Parts: sequence; structure tokens; C-alpha cells
Amino acid sequence: MNVGIVGSGYVGTTVAACLAHLGHDVTNVDVDRSVVEAVEDGRAPVDEPRLDELLAEYGGNRLRATTDYDALSDAELIFVALPTPSNEDGSVDTSVVEAGAESLGPVLAERGDYPTVVVKSTVVPGTTADLIRPALERTSGAVAGEDFGVAVNPEFLREGSAVDDFLSPDKLVFGTDDDDRAEDALCGVFAPLVDAEDPPVVSTGTREAEMIKYANNAFLATKVSLINELGNICKEHGVDAYEVAEAIGLDDRISERFLRSGLGFGGSCFPKDVAAIIAAARAKGYDPELLQAAMDVNDKQPRRLLSLVDRHVDVAGERVAVLGLAFKPHTDDVRNSRAIDVIRGLRERGAEVVAYDPVASENMRDYFPDLTYADSAAAALDGAAAAVVATDWPEFADLDSEFDAMATPVVVDGRRVVTRREGLVYEGLTW
Ligand code: UGA
Repeated sequence: MNVGIVGSGYVGTTVAACLAHLGHDVTNVDVDRSVVEAVEDGRAPVDEPRLDELLAEYGGNRLRATTDYDALSDAELIFVALPTPSNEDGSVDTSVVEAGAESLGPVLAERGDYPTVVVKSTVVPGTTADLIRPALERTSGAVAGEDFGVAVNPEFLREGSAVDDFLSPDKLVFGTDDDDRAEDALCGVFAPLVDAEDPPVVSTGTREAEMIKYANNAFLATKVSLINELGNICKEHGVDAYEVAEAIGLDDRISERFLRSGLGFGGSCFPKDVAAIIAAARAKGYDPELLQAAMDVNDKQPRRLLSLVDRHVDVAGERVAVLGLAFKPHTDDVRNSRAIDVIRGLRERGAEVVAYDPVASENMRDYFPDLTYADSAAAALDGAAAAVVATDWPEFADLDSEFDAMATPVVVDGRRVVTRREGLVYEGLTW
């Protein structure tokens, strides 16, 4: 099929490359010329495993990129994968998606072949029907449901495994409002994936599809906060939360996944999406106390870690190593990383922070330009009065004699990755 993708961030590029891989002719539109050039040259504009190889294979041939919306005039399906940042109050800033929809208007005008616009961006229930669809109609002069289709197809990719997640999905969600042609178009574009992987396909309305994405992320984020709350209680009782988690995870209804307690969730999705659905609920007069508590527990975890440091060392004027800056391992993304709060707290206490991350230091410089960034964990630990672990990079599990170079061997582990050993004052956040 001839497919368009508006937006070439990590979702847009992954979807574009994977749809080319499934055999479609894909055109990616992005305002950023450097992104367009990268795709045309067969280079991935974002850092994701396997994306480079897909771009090298399809970029510039089956996958084209341009800044010009007119290139979508033959597209049968157009996915909108534009960012939905947060407003101050946590609600979603829809201005970018709305502007994208307005730019699509001329592409939909006088077509006669019923193209379908598919919203992939994460937007609160009703946004597609009440904002995007009217914007498309206003700028095209065409009528949704008569001249073109509208659908919602949320994405459940994780950073760091986006390509694999796309090509082996747990589920596909197709939201349309009684629009069989739009749904057929979605079935068509995903047919090679459905034939190969046989994922469950959920056919539903646009509002439901929008809500499914929030419910998915809110559930997982709350699961992390619940195990962290239980973990905090465990710690107070001298109980190892990981032993408890392993046991409760044996109950199918709970499942062992997403039960790693510690510093909490970060990244560009969970904090933003939970805040957005809280704001959307409040806008309707409903106060979502449990989701707010999930956010509060998440905010609490860095403070708990810092209080464990305080228990052993007065860090004022002391060197403190922060191991791990990325919001999770295998990514250089530091957005909403718990390490940010940890570093702030240490600096408020007057510590001289020396940070190390295998790939994320450059990105953290935007937040803390004047921090000392070490180029190895060993260098960060050298002479430190304490070390805190903020990201579960596997390489931290191999640290051993490196701790001997610390001034005082205090290690507070926020991710259960360092191995407890003789000679180390070791504190786990929830164990
Ligand atoms: C998340 C969802 O997992 C994806 O399904 C979704 O598509 C994506 O958001 C999105 O909305 O775009 P991602 O942000 O890449 O994906 O990261 P996750 O791997 O889910 O981890 C999120 C955070 O939770 C990380 O900070 C991680 O360290 C933390 N976490 C995760 C825990 O603290 N404990 C766990 O057991 C699991």
C-alpha cells in the first residue's frame, strides 16, 4: 500500500521503517530537514536498535522522507505520529497534532479514493473526534466518513526495543467510529503482520482506542508504584521486596513482569501520560486519587534513596558518584529520569556529584551543564564518599574492586543491580 507518516520521532520513524519492511511504499513527512536527509540517506534519525539496518535497507527507496505534505497526495493511509507534550498542569498540548491535521487538509481535498487518517499520537479520549476530525474537515472541505476516513491506532512500543515491539505486538488496536472503510484500510496495512504474528486485533471506537493507550500506561505505571510502595514497607520491616515480588509474581493474575521495585518510572511516556489522564479526568470533574498516588509514590522514591545516603554519610563537601543517568538501561534518553531528582537532592546537600552513564551523559549535560561527568564507573567511584545507582545498566553488576577506591564504601542501590559484597556498606532502596 501507499502509506504516509507525519512525524519522524521514535514512533514515526519506527512505524515508517517497519511498514516499509512489511512491503509498503512509505512517505515520511517531517519539518526537520536534518531528519529528512537522514532518512533519505538511509540513516536512522533516532537511536533505536535495528532501526539503522531497516533505514539502510529501505531509506531513499521504499521509504522516502520529505518536508512537503504534497508528497502524501496518493497515500491511502496517513499515520499522524506527532508529539503531544504536556502543558504546565499536566494536560496534553494538542497544538502540534492540530497543526499537523490542518496541514493534511489540502492532501485530502478532492481525492475520490477515500484516504484514511490514522492518529498514532497519544491523545485523550475525544481528541480525534472533537478536534482532529474537525480540523481535517475544515482545511480539506471534505467530509469525514464520506470523502475520507479517520481512525485511531495507538502504539505500545518501548524505547530500546521499538522495532521488535512493532514487529511482534501483543495486540493491535483499531479505533474507528463506524467507519468500515477506515478499518479495512488498517486491516490492509497490518495484514502482513497479522499473517506472520497473529496478534489479537481489537476493533473499537476512536475514544476507546485513545483511552486504551492511557489505561495501558497508567496501569503499568501504577504497577511500578504499587510494588515500590510495597517495597518501601518491606524496607521498613527488613524484608527483601524482590523475594516478595518473585512470590507474588507467580500468581497469574499479578504476573512477574513490571515488578522491579526501586527508584520508580521515568521516560517520555509514563509520567506524561499519567499526568495527562489525571488532568483529563479532573477536567470532567472526577478526581483520580489512585493515579495521583502512583505519581506521588514515584516522586517519593528519589527522596527515600537520598535519606538512605544521609543515614551513612554527610555528603556536604564530599564527592558522590551517581551511576546511571538514563531513565532505563539501553537508552541515552534522560527525560524524566529519576537520576535528575537524585542529582538535585545531592547538590542541595552540598555534594560534589560525579556522574557516569555509558551513553546518556551528553543528554544529561542539558540539565546539568556544570556537573562532572566521568568516562567510567571506576573513575566516578574513585575517592567518592558514597555512590548511588540510578539506572540498572548490566555493567554495574560487574563492579567489584572498583569500590575499593572509594573514600568510604557506601553504596545505595536504587535498581538492585550492584552485588552486595564484603567491605561494602550496601543499602538497597526496597531490600
Ligand atoms: C512505555 C510502555 O512500556 C510502552 O508500552 C509505551 O508504548 C511507551 O511507554 C509509550 O507510551 O510510548 P518506555 O517509556 O519505553 O515504554 O519504557 P518502559 O520500558 O515501559 O519503562 C518505563 C519506566 O518504568 C522506566 O523508567 C523503568 O525503569 C521503570 N520500570 C519498569 C520500573 O521501575 N520497574 C519495572 O518493573 C519496570
